[in-house]
Amino acid sequence: MDFITLEEVDSTNLYAKRKLEFISDRTVISAKKQTCGRGRLNRKWVDLGEGNLFVSIVLKPSDLFEQKYSNLTQYLSVCICRTLEIYSLQPEIKWPNDVQINGKKIAGILCETVMQGTSFKGLVLGFGINISASKNSVLQVADKEVTSLALEIKSSCPSKEVFLDKLLSIFWEDYDNFLKEGFIYIKEDYSKRARFLGKKIRVCLQDGIVEGVASEVDDFGALVLDEKDKNIVLTIGDIL
Ligand code: BTN
Repeated sequence: MDFITLEEVDSTNLYAKRKLEFISDRTVISAKKQTCGRGRLNRKWVDLGEGNLFVSIVLKPSDLFEQKYSNLTQYLSVCICRTLEIYSLQPEIKWPNDVQINGKKIAGILCETVMQGTSFKGLVLGFGINISASKNSVLQVADKEVTSLALEIKSSCPSKEVFLDKLLSIFWEDYDNFLKEGFIYIKEDYSKRARFLGKKIRVCLQDGIVEGVASEVDDFGALVLDEKDKNIVLTIGDIL
């Protein structure tokens, strides 16, 4: 595993995509400062200061894209939960891959697929985790309730380097198994941390909002909503 550490960058994901052909499989890129952090569904990821993690992992698992790669964000969300649990916290996952503590977001994940024409070049799995952000700085994120490890932990807060080190060992430990089997490999671990299951929820889609009881996350990571006597299977969206 190679490491690239940047002082300042627009976005670690953009950097990885620009340089992808020169970066080897399993390279971890982290930045001290990110000026144009990008989130899911065209949102921004706000830089809450140097003590927080802005990281992208370059992955080149094969020459052809496989559908199960789209579940890598869910795999990473489980790995982030497992790491937070080392510190006696009880993180939860908000489908598809936000990690929350006490209903507040602590980590976000954005995976981008890089294609050249029709050929698959690799994946950039980016994540931001709020480690040291203070009460005042989390208030900068206007659209969501946000927290950090420092605000939630009962013992002393680890540095971002220590946290990243633990997270990466957890990530690589099961990565090859995940690649072989896909979402089913983590389905149970994911579902037991999925706070929305069994609840009546509203999900924002590109063309409107759907409502129903979240009955399960299926074998492919899709969210199944029961609505009256039909099932709605969602592969993209945002729980409101
Ligand atoms: C989300 O919750 O919407 C996803 C946020 C992902 C943020 C990380 S920070 C490192 C990497 N570089 C980016 O520009 N975005 C991801």
